[in-house]
Formats: sequence, structure tokens, C-alpha cells
Amino acid sequence: MARAKSVYRCTECGAESPKWAGRCEGCGAWNTLGEEIVASLPTSKRTAARSVGGVAGSTVMLGRVVTTETPRWRTGLDEFDFVLGGGIVPGSMVLVGGEPGIGKSTLLLQVAARLEAAGHATLYVSGEESALQVRLRAERLSEDARGVSLLTETSLETLLATAAQPVADGRRVNTLIVDSIQTVHTELLEGAPGNVGQVRECAARLMRFAKDTGTTVFVIGHVTKGGGIAGPKTLEHIVDTVLYFEGDGTLDHRVLRATKNRFGSVDEIGVFRMLGTGLVPVENPSALFLGDRRDVASGSAVCALMEGTRPVLVEVQALAAKAGFGTPQRVANGIDARRLALLLAVLDKRGGFSCAQLDVFCNVVGGMRVQEPSVDLAIVAALASSVVDRPLPAQAVFLGELGLGGEVRPVSQLERRLAEAAKLGMTKAFLSDRAMPRRAPGDLDLVGVRTLSDVLRCTVGREAA
Ligand code: TYD
Ligand code: MG
Repeated sequence: MARAKSVYRCTECGAESPKWAGRCEGCGAWNTLGEEIVASLPTSKRTAARSVGGVAGSTVMLGRVVTTETPRWRTGLDEFDFVLGGGIVPGSMVLVGGEPGIGKSTLLLQVAARLEAAGHATLYVSGEESALQVRLRAERLSEDARGVSLLTETSLETLLATAAQPVADGRRVNTLIVDSIQTVHTELLEGAPGNVGQVRECAARLMRFAKDTGTTVFVIGHVTKGGGIAGPKTLEHIVDTVLYFEGDGTLDHRVLRATKNRFGSVDEIGVFRMLGTGLVPVENPSALFLGDRRDVASGSAVCALMEGTRPVLVEVQALAAKAGFGTPQRVANGIDARRLALLLAVLDKRGGFSCAQLDVFCNVVGGMRVQEPSVDLAIVAALASSVVDRPLPAQAVFLGELGLGGEVRPVSQLERRLAEAAKLGMTKAFLSDRAMPRRAPGDLDLVGVRTLSDVLRCTVGREAA
């Protein structure tokens, strides 16, 4: 194929350069130039475009747009269907990102096997593993993946040509899985597979293929610990749906999170367990994250988070211990370190518990990452409990955002959080007295509090200094 003309464009400022360079001439950023194809129009078209400014397209009134409700495909892997917003939208392009080893290939092989069993012709393209390796993985799964067509290839052109052809038994391929986008390359661009230009161009061509042929395309993308420059981040604008597979590789559960979804709500999560037979959906994530709460030690508090539309209970643990060295350490796992610093300051100033001489460790159990401020109250309660070494009530849930003045603020979607807490056997809930619900779900005892010192008084039993 004839080589197309290409330019190098800075991913930071957009400056264009005819040659690759380590540093962008425009903004001075390092290592941001990526190759891009420039479509060169024939001269006749170029003059035509200049004179008439393009050809007019036809418009349609929104109300007259024909709506054909295509049913979604359900894989039967409930958590996967749920995160996508109720199943796979045919013809859409879905990016599944995650760190290496988290289980992306396993998940999509399971999806392929299930779609194949439902009569869809699926093509699994692996650029990372040999056919034998994929076969060995498939044999471990509880699903039967023998019907899935496999292609081990890294050239985008070959891949697309293969996907456009019928599979062995004559059916048209309607599901294409590319594992992974970092290994595919197009011959239109120079540069190794995995660089920004290659990744973007391949993804754009796959998207066009999906829309032109109505094929459903799944693309796997790796992200590195640092976010990864040529990682899926640059692809998020291109695809319809972005799912991130997260979790600690050492734990056996994984969280699949939708961060972009043109066909459903975002921030929905699906929880899976990695077993010997592949990934199995977890029906009740709260029970998994919460564990056994019969003999809780000091420094443990429960909070109810909203993950998309679904409430999840998590345990926050804090440990305040005498510092061994000059500057006390602050270690935060699953919560933002700056948020922890802020809460420590509020606890000191408004709650009268100083951690200035103490090492502080704070952890969200189960490898969850919490961004919501509704966890504030649980964190300070856990910290105070650890400082005085007195456990908090084991079956209590703490719901509240803390202001800098020590005031407890209400949280959103309170009813759903309380309902989940009641379902999981919690008996008490501390929440802002400004937003007390009229009725408590189950036999939950609601304790309205105004300030941080109110909470500390009713739990660890100490007044503000
Ligand atoms: P893999 O899907 O290869 O991860 P990725 O494609 O994201 O890099 O799987 C990662 C891990 O999962 C691997 O260390 C082995 C483990 N695993 C199981 O525990 N059980 C299984 O049934 C399978 C297939 C894999
Ligand atoms: Mg893989």
C-alpha cells in the first residue's frame, strides 16, 4: 500500500511539525509528538472545496429520525451487562482498560464464548499471545470457548480484512475483539506499535469499521501505573464506551467501572471474583467488601458509598501509632492523601484529637478507591477511635461530608445508602441532622448529628478539647 503523508503533532498544544523531535517546538513539552496521517486531496477536489466551501449535506428534523430499537445482547455475565447499561449495544465500540494481569483477556474471552453460544459469530484477535496460549486459557474457563474464531495477528489491515470475511461456517463476523490495541499497527504510519499515533489511528479505523459494518468491537488497552502515555487515555474520545478493570492483582476480586458510556450511565461498577475457572460476578458487593464485623478492633468504621446507581458498603480502617522518627508518616490507601491531611487538621482543630506526633495509616478495605466526600465522617471516626483505642459501634454506618468548621453535611441519595446499610444488618446510622429522612429503613436507628464533636461524643466518648 502506498505510504500516506504524515505529520507529527504535539498531544499537548497541537503544534505540527514535519519531523519527529523529542521536544515540541510549540510548547516545549517533552516526548509529546505523535505521528498523524494527513489526507491529501487531489488538486481538482482541493480547488472545488475552496470555491464552494464543500458540498451541502442533508438535514433531518430530530423528531423525524427513525428510531429502531435494536435489542441489546446479554452475555449472562450479569455484572458485565449491568456496567454496560443493560447489555451490549450492537455496533458499538467498547474499550476495556486496565493494568497488565488484571484479567482483561480472561473477561473478553468469556464474553466471546458466551456470545458465540448465543449464536453470534465472534472473532478474537490476539496480538499478544499465541493460539496455544489462548487455547490453554480457554480450557480453564467455565464457558465453552471452542466455537470462537481466533486470529493471531498484529497488522490492522489484515485484521480488518479478516473481520470483513465470513468465519469458517459462513456466518458474518458480528463481534470483533482486539487484544490489545497496543500491539496492532497500521502500515500507513511509521513508528512502533503502541505509540500514540499508531494507537489513535488504529482505534479510529476500528471505530469506522464498527460503524460502517455494524460490527461490535471490543478493544483491550493496557494502562501503566503512571497512567500510560500511549495508553487508552488518548482513545477515550474515540470509542463509545470505556470500561476500566481495576483492583489489586493480589486480591481475588476485580472491579469493572464504566467511565464513559454513550448508551448508559457512567460510574456504574460491576464486581467480579477471579477464580480458577475465570471471572465470576459477585452478587452482593457490600457483603464482600464488608466482611465479618463481629469482633471489630478500634479504628474501623463503615460508610455507604454510591457507585453509580448502586450503594456499596465499605469499611475504612485507620491506625494512629506513635511515630518512630522525626516526621510522622501519613499513608493513605484508597483515599486521597490530601483529603486525609485535611481531615486530620479538622479532627485536631474541631474534634480535639491531635495526631501531630503520631504516624497515621488509613485504608479502605478491599482495594476500593473512594473519591466521594461522604466517607469523611467514617474516616475521622475511625481515626479518633484509633487514637483513644476504643472501638466504634460495630454495626454503625457513618454518612457525612465534613466542612472545615467541623460541621457534618448531608450526603446525596441518602435513602438508598440507608436501605443498603439496613439490608446488610447495620443497626445504627450517624448522619447530618439537616437531612433526616422521615422514615428509617428496617430497624435502623438514625442518629442526627450537627458537628464532628457531636459524633465523637456519642461514639468514642470524648468532648472537644
Ligand atoms: P489475563 O486475562 O491474562 O490478564 P490481562 O489480559 O489483563 O493481562 O489474566 C490475568 C491473571 O488471571 C493471570 O495471572 C492468571 C489469572 N487467571 C485465573 O486466576 N483464573 C483463570 O481462570 C484465568 C484464565 C486466569
Ligand atoms: Mg491479556
